[in-house]
Amino acid sequence: MSDLSLTILPETADDALAIERLHERTFGPGRYAKSAYRIREGASHRLDLSFTARIGTLLVGSVRLTPIRIGAAPALLLGPLTVEPPFRERGIGAALIARARADAKKRGHRLVMLVGDEPYYGKCGFRPVPKGQVTMPGPVDPARLLVCELAAGAFAEVTGPIRPEWDAA
Ligand SMILES: CC(C)(COP(=O)(O)OP(=O)(O)OC[C@H]1O[C@@H](n2cnc3c(N)ncnc32)[C@H](O)[C@@H]1OP(=O)(O)O)[C@@H](O)C(=O)NCCC(=O)NCCS
Repeated sequence: MSDLSLTILPETADDALAIERLHERTFGPGRYAKSAYRIREGASHRLDLSFTARIGTLLVGSVRLTPIRIGAAPALLLGPLTVEPPFRERGIGAALIARARADAKKRGHRLVMLVGDEPYYGKCGFRPVPKGQVTMPGPVDPARLLVCELAAGAFAEVTGPIRPEWDAA
């Protein structure tokens, strides 16, 4: 895909409906049962750290980041990440993650967590959380709990339950 045709932009309030429809098509009603959803319903995602991918004016992908705490440490939860099926496998997912990571780092954030497939997110700088270091507010396959340090060593001393950052809700 040519860089000329793809744009990555911060999410705006006007994108809400298109993103909700994309999530519905991609994940269906089962999305509400996920442990990560328990966190996302406790705090809003940050529009300035969430991004849309567009081909022309068509929204073809979205990534959202939500403020959380791990124990006492501030962090961000990445997800959902979604790309419209006809536009997959062209680097759009990776471009959304790269932009979200870069902007989060610029703003001084140090850690990004997510629940997802290590074979995919491993290529984007995420690695599995050592078993027991953090806990989610619901069942999650420990192999799918991944972290990305935006500052070297930022995860070393971090431990505890993950919860929404209520102050940001
Ligand atoms: C996961 C998703 C966002 C990837 O978007 P994308 O734009 O196709 O991703 P990219 O183009 O950056 O990367 C594509 C590569 O990742 C691989 N890949 C995609 N999903 C993968 C997965 N779940 N596990 C391992 N590899 C995966 C593709 O095979 C491809 O590999 P290649 O580079 O060797 O050809 C997209 O497939 C999607 O929306 N899936 C449904 C929603 C979902 O599962 N979201 C993630 C959980 S929140």
